Amino acid sequence: MIYCNNLVKTYGSITVLKGTRLEVPAGQMASIMGSSGAGKSTLLHILGTLDQANSGTIKLNGVEVSAMNAKELSHFRNQNIGFIFQFHHLLPELTALENTALPAYISGQNVSKANNRASELLDYLGMKDRMQHKPGQLSGGEQQRIALARALINNPKILLADEPTGNLDQHNAQEVLRLLLQLKAEMNMTLLLVTHDPNIAVKTEITYTMKDGVIVDSVKS
Ligand SMILES: Nc1ncnc2c1ncn2[C@@H]1O[C@H](COP(=O)(O)OP(=O)(O)OP(=O)(O)O)[C@@H](O)[C@H]1O
Ligand SMILES: [Mg+2]
Repeated sequence: MIYCNNLVKTYGSITVLKGTRLEVPAGQMASIMGSSGAGKSTLLHILGTLDQANSGTIKLNGVEVSAMNAKELSHFRNQNIGFIFQFHHLLPELTALENTALPAYISGQNVSKANNRASELLDYLGMKDRMQHKPGQLSGGEQQRIALARALINNPKILLADEPTGNLDQHNAQEVLRLLLQLKAEMNMTLLLVTHDPNIAVKTEITYTMKDGVIVDSVKS
């Protein structure tokens, strides 16, 4: 599960999160919508422990991560959280396979084992004959799928995705969503995704609306 309450985040004199609260029960998929600048990416980064709030509580799968120190956090993150960034952050010098396997290398896994798992995931995502391509040689949708594979390499129980379909046409967007729903069922993951697309949000179990740093609405489907 994903839970936060009273999250406050300031950048200098600007308060971006103003006591944000939300909850995604284990095994569910929720979405966050809201206008540009509302604080959606900031919230997702903080929930993913990639950034720290000034105050507030975060619990992921029952563990209070807001109380952990930096070392505990980086271990917890690597083992439990998959993150898909708004802008992919794929490394241009690495192949699709190496980009996918990178978090597994970092967690100290044997390289050939990590590569096997990466190749399995890329195959599953329809990228079998693109594994040796570098990001610059791939389409936006293909890069999106590598970012998804990379987020899944350590079998996270929690997947946070910042506009995972943002650069895709409607057909490819629905295809990525279909994959996310399938993965959720197969891996029993809890998912939270930010989207501007109502066609995506409507397929998630809870849709939160964020405005000016707070959740102002939640709709269950
Ligand atoms: N590192 C930073 N330093 C200062 N201000 C920041 C920083 N990161 C974000 N902000 C500010 O916080 C606010 C929220 O940004 P955020 O990226 O969370 O918005 P968003 O809801 O994801 O928007 P979008 O839909 O455009 O991606 C913005 O006004 C932004 O300028
Ligand atoms: Mg954003």
